[in-house]
Amino acid sequence: NLVFFDTAASALKVDVMIEATKNCYAYEYSNIHRGMYELSANLSKKYEDSRITVSQFINSTSNQNIIFTKNATEGINLVSSCLSNNYFKDNDEIIISYLEHHANIVPWHLSNKKINIVPVKINQFGEIDYQDLISKINSKTKLISLTHMSNVTGTLIDFTRIKELRKKYNIPLLVDGCQYVPHKKLDIKDLDPDFYVFSAHKLYGPSGLGILYIKDKWLDLFSPYQGGGSMIKDVEINKSTYASGFEKFEAGTPPIAQVIGLSASLDFLNNLDLDVIFKHEMFLHDYMLEKLKSFNDIDIYGNSKSKGAIISFNIKNAHYNDVALLLDKKNIAIRSGHHCAQPLMKYLDLKGTARASFGVYNSQNDVDYFIESLKSIIKILK
Ligand code: ALA
Repeated sequence: NLVFFDTAASALKVDVMIEATKNCYAYEYSNIHRGMYELSANLSKKYEDSRITVSQFINSTSNQNIIFTKNATEGINLVSSCLSNNYFKDNDEIIISYLEHHANIVPWHLSNKKINIVPVKINQFGEIDYQDLISKINSKTKLISLTHMSNVTGTLIDFTRIKELRKKYNIPLLVDGCQYVPHKKLDIKDLDPDFYVFSAHKLYGPSGLGILYIKDKWLDLFSPYQGGGSMIKDVEINKSTYASGFEKFEAGTPPIAQVIGLSASLDFLNNLDLDVIFKHEMFLHDYMLEKLKSFNDIDIYGNSKSKGAIISFNIKNAHYNDVALLLDKKNIAIRSGHHCAQPLMKYLDLKGTARASFGVYNSQNDVDYFIESLKSIIKILK
């Protein structure tokens, strides 16, 4: 009976993923990359085949540019730590935007270099102000790090608008694709970022797994982020040498069952077709938005023409947490609060919002029930 409008926080799980994970643990399981026996060899191959599935899902030419991490946040922390150790100098600048999630803000605060974080303004539609972005690019800019789709407003970022400038100044690009990849087809060749992160749990896959796409140049330049088994060439008591490529960044026993599970959820998404999914979700989004707009007492944040299926709103004179709690009483799950985007909330002079976000399983009936429930809640709150 659950109506789930919190897919932006984490997607519900698909049977094929649960089955694949169960089979992995029940019938296929052993550690990988370190056993001479058949069970281990078979699962090692399946694990590496999943790396190919992931690379094909984002249209990468090679599976060698995919690093499995704990989550997308760890991917950005890895990049921040490695850029700080191998590339950044004091007083370098990183351009981000006010739309960013904390995962694309706090890791830069942890840099061991004195980095200036330069935020790009957003306009009244919740879009990045591209003129402001362009005006902020200069020879001190050592990274542009932006979300691909805002987790609060759903705004999509148009990277073609900075392609030429990136080239001119040779500026690396990191893209946080957590909200984009589950809903729209990513063509990594076309986007051409240096780094791209996303998480498995938002792709109807398991929690505890993130994906970092990283260009060859950085794989070679970066020294390891963490040390341990699997990422070494040779170890002595006082020194060690390291594996090359993605292996250098996958220390310890990897998230084996999670990677197998993710592969199954990607097959599920490939079968459904992301273009069809995006149309379905946007149909429901537009349907809900039209109905919400007819409310007198509502503020809706972000109305870019180029957006994904996320709606953030506040009911006037009602607390967003009360709205979420009362919707929960009607078996409707939404997220409320600052959405791990406090700088955006401060920029918009808000403490938080209520947020409905959509996934493959949502239907028009869900939206009708949500609207009807919200109307009755507003009566209670007034
Ligand atoms: N980043 C996730 C969200 O927006 C957790 O809810």
